[in-house]
Order: sequence, then C-alpha cells, then structure tokens
Amino acid sequence: MQQQLELIRQQAMSALDEATTPAALEELRVKLLGKKGELTAVLKQMGQLSPEERPVIGQIANSVRSAIEEKLEQRKAAINAAVLEEKLSAEKIDVTIPGKAVTMGHQHPMNQVLQEIKDIFIGMGYQIVDGPEVELADYNFTRLNIEEGHPSRDRSDTFYFTDDDSVLLRTQTSPMQIRAMENTKPPICILAPGRVFRKDEADATHSPMFHQIEGLVVDENITMGDLKGALVTVMRRIYGQDAQMRFRPHHFPFTEPSCEMDMQCHKCHGTGEVDGQVCSTCHGEGWIELLGAGMVHPKVLESCGIDPEKYSGFAFGMGLERMAMGRMRINDLRLIFDNDVRFLNQF
Ligand code: DAH
Repeated sequence: MQQQLELIRQQAMSALDEATTPAALEELRVKLLGKKGELTAVLKQMGQLSPEERPVIGQIANSVRSAIEEKLEQRKAAINAAVLEEKLSAEKIDVTIPGKAVTMGHQHPMNQVLQEIKDIFIGMGYQIVDGPEVELADYNFTRLNIEEGHPSRDRSDTFYFTDDDSVLLRTQTSPMQIRAMENTKPPICILAPGRVFRKDEADATHSPMFHQIEGLVVDENITMGDLKGALVTVMRRIYGQDAQMRFRPHHFPFTEPSCEMDMQCHKCHGTGEVDGQVCSTCHGEGWIELLGAGMVHPKVLESCGIDPEKYSGFAFGMGLERMAMGRMRINDLRLIFDNDVRFLNQF
C-alpha cells in the first residue's frame, strides 16, 4: 500500500506539472482527491491493515494528500498568472488611435428664430401662452367676428373633424386672443406661438402646416401707435436697424382698423427680380408679408366681457416660417420642413 501511495504521489506530481488549463487542473483534482478518486480508493482498503500498520499508512496517505493539495494550489496560481498575462498582451490598447467623434445636433433654425422672437417679447413684458391645435369653430371663427359663409370657413380651406363643422384644426392662432381674454382681466399682454393648419398646396411661401405667433395687448388707452411701436421695435431687433418694413391697410373681421406688415424681400432687395427673372422668394412682389395686425374689434372685446368703452387693444399674428426665412436668408419655405441635415447644418 505504501508503494501504491508513493506511485500516486509521483504520478500526481508529474500530471499536475503538465496541466496547463484551469479545467485540466480541476479534472485532476477530482481524479486524485475526489470521492471516487485514486487516494480515496486506497484509503478504503485501510480496514484490511493490521492495527500497527494503520497509523503508518495513514500518515503517508495524509502527507500524499497534502502534497497534492499544495501542488494543486501552486499550479492554479501559475496557470491563472499565465492566463492573465496572455489576456493582457492580447488586449493591448493603443491610446494614440483617434477617437470616434460624437456628432451633436442643434436647434432647428426655425426654433432658433422662435426663441429669439420670444426673448424679445418677454423683454417687453409679454407672457408666453399655449393653446389647443384642435379648436372649436366658435373660437377659431365665430367669436372672432368671422361670420357664417366667410370664405376662410370653407371646407376647401379648413380641416374639419365633425360633420357640423364645429371642431377643426385651428387655421390661425387668433383663437388664443379669445382664450386669453376669457381667462384674464386686462391688462393683458400675451404672446401665443403655435402650429396652424390650412388646405394649402406647398410652394416657396406656403405649407398646409405652418407656425404663427399671436400677440395681444389689452389695456386702457392702447392705440395704433403702440401697435406700430411694438412691431417696429421687434423687427429692428431681429433684422437690424436698417430693415425696411411697410404697413398696408387691410381687412380682418376681428380688428378695426386692420393692417398687414411686409418686409422687403431679402432675396431681390425689393426689386422683384433676380438675374432678369421674377424673384421666386417673393413672386416678384419685392416684399414679403410677415403679419396681420390691427386694433381689437369692439365686438370681440365685448364677447369676452371686456368693456370696449374703457379698454382697447391691439393684436397681431405673424408667420414664423416667413420670419425665419428673412432672418436666416432661406429662399424656399419647404426647406424648413424637409429636415435635410445638409441644409440644417448651415445654421
Ligand atoms: N389670424 C390672421 C391670419 O391668419 C392674422 C392676424 C390678423 C392676426 C390680424 C391678428 C390680427 O391678431 O389682429 O391671417
């Protein structure tokens, strides 16, 4: 038995020396020391020994076991170190390789202009308000003094949701005037930017969805002078001190008197022609219409419970895309909606 044990020790030592992977080591451990292992098999025969022999063989068996265990630990450490070494050299990192640049997006040019406009109005004391895009015909038309049968109410111009034409996609931000006057008492000084919808074919200056910025100021002694002063101040802040603007008389059912404000076309500088061709940006007009405005109609004030004898107000609704086209020198409105990054990256 002693010889058997010595043989196990010798074979174990050389087998362990040859093992090169953690798996091979584990296999050996089970083979040598496990319940069904070689050493256990020998120890099971201890019963056959005489009482004198037993402690001697027992001692040898123990020393074989601890020798194997010690060797196992040694080899384990050596193999782990070798595995780590190999891994480290295989995973070498070249810190000099250039990194992958993360491309950052930025605000859409139209939103940049909207932000500029809002900042200017906020500086003048206006409060920014928000309202529904799905609107009642009552707010979008009736209470703005737009009578039944008015062309803008036509189904060919307006997106309706209901057969009785009572719910629609707002065609203008002007219903926000009614909502503001319903919700607050004068003095009122609000700015309401938002999307509006019309059944328009898209061309260089039209789109079925576009943005307007509605403004409303109601207080005692508000005059047309306040209207002009506010709008000219804002336009000069946006387009520069020498920007050319003009006011034209116009008609809107909810203002009296009413006007429109144009800005000289940034493409043809008011000539209506580019290289002998009709300017495509302003259709040869030389001017681009930016907004409608006027003094709030007494009937509209009254329908909101505001006494037109005591209070007056001005209102305006500007086209945000048109404002952005002038500010960013964009020649075609459709570019604003295409979202081609080659276009957007210029701003
Ligand atoms: N809502 C008008 C439109 O879409 C623009 C407008 C005109 C707004 C006069 C106003 C206003 O507030 O006073 O054409």
